[in-house]
Amino acid sequence: MTEVSAHPWRGIAAEEVDEPARALSILLRRRSRALLADLLRPHRGTVALIGLLILTANLAALAGPWLVGIGVDRVPALVATRDPVPLLVVTAGFCAAAGLQAAASAWYITAIGRMGGQVVLELRARLFATFQRLSVAFHERYTSGRVISRQVSDVDAISELFDEGLDSLVSAAFSLVFTGTGMLLLDWPLALTVMAGFLPLAWITAWFRRESTVAYRRTREAIALVIVHFVETVNGIRAVQAFRREPRNEQIFAGLNEGYARASKRSMHLVALYFPGVTIVGNLAVAAVLLYGGLRVIDHAMPVGVLVTFLLYLRRFFEPLQDVSQFYSTFQSATAGLEKISGVLEEEPSVPEPAAPAALPGRPAGGGPGRELRMAGVRFGYRSAGPRAPAGAPGRAPAGGSAVVLPGLDLTIPAGQTVALVGPTGAGKTTIARLLARFYDPDEGQVLLDGVDLRSISDADLRREIVLITQENFLFSATIAENIALGRPSATRAEIAAAAEAVGAAGFIAALPGGYDARVGKRGGRLSAGQRQLVSFARAFLAAPSVILLDEATSLLDLPSERTVQRAMRTLLAGRTALIIAHRLSTVRIADRVIVLRDGRVAEDGPPGALLRGDGEYAGLHARWEESLT
Ligand SMILES: Nc1ncnc2c1ncn2[C@@H]1O[C@H](COP(=O)(O)OP(=O)(O)OP(=O)(O)O)[C@@H](O)[C@H]1O
Ligand SMILES: [Mg+2]
Repeated sequence: MTEVSAHPWRGIAAEEVDEPARALSILLRRRSRALLADLLRPHRGTVALIGLLILTANLAALAGPWLVGIGVDRVPALVATRDPVPLLVVTAGFCAAAGLQAAASAWYITAIGRMGGQVVLELRARLFATFQRLSVAFHERYTSGRVISRQVSDVDAISELFDEGLDSLVSAAFSLVFTGTGMLLLDWPLALTVMAGFLPLAWITAWFRRESTVAYRRTREAIALVIVHFVETVNGIRAVQAFRREPRNEQIFAGLNEGYARASKRSMHLVALYFPGVTIVGNLAVAAVLLYGGLRVIDHAMPVGVLVTFLLYLRRFFEPLQDVSQFYSTFQSATAGLEKISGVLEEEPSVPEPAAPAALPGRPAGGGPGRELRMAGVRFGYRSAGPRAPAGAPGRAPAGGSAVVLPGLDLTIPAGQTVALVGPTGAGKTTIARLLARFYDPDEGQVLLDGVDLRSISDADLRREIVLITQENFLFSATIAENIALGRPSATRAEIAAAAEAVGAAGFIAALPGGYDARVGKRGGRLSAGQRQLVSFARAFLAAPSVILLDEATSLLDLPSERTVQRAMRTLLAGRTALIIAHRLSTVRIADRVIVLRDGRVAEDGPPGALLRGDGEYAGLHARWEESLT
């Protein structure tokens, strides 16, 4: 554990594996049970059928050895009569029981598999929907590696449980109870001898459970480290290669990988000890039954057939325990997975949709001048990504305190006005844009659109009215047309082309091989930064919102493409309320009003011309910018 525990990622991994350990202590926690019950509810009929089939299979399995015992007892009498019929009847009964057992098992295994498939399908769908619905704030603390773990390995663990573990678990429990009862009914003193074998068995099983929980935890922790490191490396592959981080990364990865191999070796080792242990106890029980049972047969206290039945039952008594321990890790992964998934499923979005959304005042046909945007007494700080809020606590509870970014902001942007927001880095500009787009809710105060609090506007209305375009200009790996159509999925090809035309993107799109059907690659990687910008403008143009928020939209561009983009911007912003955040002051020229932000407060506010003539911060910024151009 040395290199592993010294690693900075350990915290992340530990966070990942804490939950299973806790979950195991009580086997299944309430929320896991509730989720499971909820998932199984539509399959109540199947569950009942499966129970019935398992019962049948177990009774049939019990009948087999019992019939063998009867047969054995009959044989000596048959020597005299030389009549094979009673033997044939018993044999036929044995075959029927064996057939019934096989058929019932085949049926319930199939039924469990089919039901498991449906449950897992439903679980995956619910998870996906939840991940999509949860707010940006959730995704900031819940890394994408963990999202992938939930969606893939945890669901897989549960699926595996249904495929192979569950039936053996349930039928092991049944067969212990049934065989035990059967033995007690047949001959209780001998049955008690067998059950004495449970004492050492309980002891080694407890040991195995304890040790393998620790080993399992270590394996999970090690593999979580391997995955986190892998995801980080691949996501940052450009930086990794640019800074020649490969050898160091390989070294770290090799260490982590080895840690994982060591941890899983320990798991294997435990299984290697436990199985022979159970076998020895089972064989000792056979020896005890043979001796004590044999003595009782000699004393005429018990027929020999019962001894044979007992010996056959013994196999059914101890073997299922081995099956269960074989699936113990499957079972652990599944309960842990279920626990973590149910944790995600009960997360509430920190920016919840209103139950009864308020209607926005209507706008004149053709759009009108946009809508008024107002921040009233807004105070806001990001929740620090400290220890996670305990499960079940509301998402908004401070999990580690927060530094105030905006101490108290009042700002009104009248309908149709274009405001440029400038200020030093870290002043809170992006934060304002996020609040205006309701990626977060303010801690105090309100953000209002045409006088309606954003918190009481439905998500659909909000996304239609306000569009935030960020530096990242996220494009999906699809065609250009599909990426533009994201603004309005119902748009026709002609409308898409018109939007591209309006923002001046049509030219470069026509030059692409495939035109509107050209695929943009992962995150739009096949386009230049400026081209991605234009595509996202076309997307926003098509969406035709009343408010546009542009964050740092042009900072990546060279001057000629910035000019193209500025032209596009004028088209885009015409007739809308707009807030542009820009470091380049050339972009600010199209604004009606400039706000200079410092430490989350408005330092200057006025028309660009007036600010320029003064000797305030904006004038200074502008002077420095002009200098930088010459
Ligand atoms: N997701 C986040 N979680 C926690 N703190 C954040 C987060 N985003 C920003 N901050 C903090 O909030 C403060 C304001 O950040 P913001 O991104 O709003 O600045 P900005 O004015 O947009 O800066 P820049 O000009 O560099 O883009 C900074 O101190 C930053 O560290
Ligand atoms: Mg910013």
